[in-house]
Amino acid sequence: MQTLGQFPMVRMRRNRHDDFSRRLVRETTLSPNDLILPVFVEEGQNRRDPVPSMPGVCRLSIDQLLEVCEEMVALGIPMVALFPHIEQNLKAPDGREAHNPDGLIPRAVKAIKAKFPQLGVMTDVALDPYTTHGQDGLIDSTGFILNDETVEQLILQALCQARAGADVVAPSDMMDGRIGAIRKALEDDGRIYTRIMAYSAKYASSYYGPFRDAVGSSSNLGRSNKDVYQQDPANGNEALWEVGYDLAEGADMVMVKPGIPYLDVLWRVKEEFKAPTFLYHVSGEYAMLKFAAAAGAIDEKKITMETMICAKRAGADGILTYCSLDVARWLKEGYEY
Ligand code: PBG
Repeated sequence: MQTLGQFPMVRMRRNRHDDFSRRLVRETTLSPNDLILPVFVEEGQNRRDPVPSMPGVCRLSIDQLLEVCEEMVALGIPMVALFPHIEQNLKAPDGREAHNPDGLIPRAVKAIKAKFPQLGVMTDVALDPYTTHGQDGLIDSTGFILNDETVEQLILQALCQARAGADVVAPSDMMDGRIGAIRKALEDDGRIYTRIMAYSAKYASSYYGPFRDAVGSSSNLGRSNKDVYQQDPANGNEALWEVGYDLAEGADMVMVKPGIPYLDVLWRVKEEFKAPTFLYHVSGEYAMLKFAAAAGAIDEKKITMETMICAKRAGADGILTYCSLDVARWLKEGYEY
């Protein structure tokens, strides 16, 4: 037989021939330990209000949140990430409700830690759910987001969350210098074990649309965008610069966001810094999966699992995904990966 290069001495298909050898040579695995579940919290009792742009996702009152946390513990998912839906009458231009010690998020954190102390609780540090204008920080009269004044508010918010018992505070605002400022405030408050997960490489992405519906910031935000503080999707090197600063300022974990369209960034961050690195598979990515599956265009389970393993292969230590409960259930049922 005519040979082409090493063929047929080298046949890449040999290892792929049987399930046993595919399992033996598999380079990446997926476990419930890789998952973080983002949850939307709202006031009230016994409420599960569906988010129309995110099929299968509901905003939960705290009692319902506790039921989800119970399932998370049973499935072995290590951490929940809380995002609030704040009532319109509590919103203000400076988002001051964000550091109300009796606010929705502090109460949710306390309720979870009282019942499930083993479950990690992460809270979002950013003002957008709390501001009348839907931006992540304070704005001046022209609508421009002020950096240093915003950081002062973020410090108060992070301290409020840490004092309520949050294990991990996660600034998603993209102000400069906020990681160092929050780290110093936590140290000064004696909270030396509160972890910071920095949304370090967070892009000004259109994939966040459904999230803004879920927390109720989209109608306030209107047509304005976040381009003056979130990263330009065209930039990769800049992400390394951001991550380097955040680690130097005291971040314990870093994040790349959105997920699948940014796997090159994830890979570069992991290669460069070797720090715990997380990927946020965001609301728009989730919506695309769900709507395509509902239309019968794709196999939801297989594509979801493939999405997760691709994130791991590209260097993620963990994935924030609205699919976490499904993924953990499928793994428990014996799905391979
Ligand atoms: C804002 C924030 C956003 C997300 C998490 N925190 C949206 C934004 O920056 O406008 C998006 C998460 C998702 O889309 O799932 N602080």
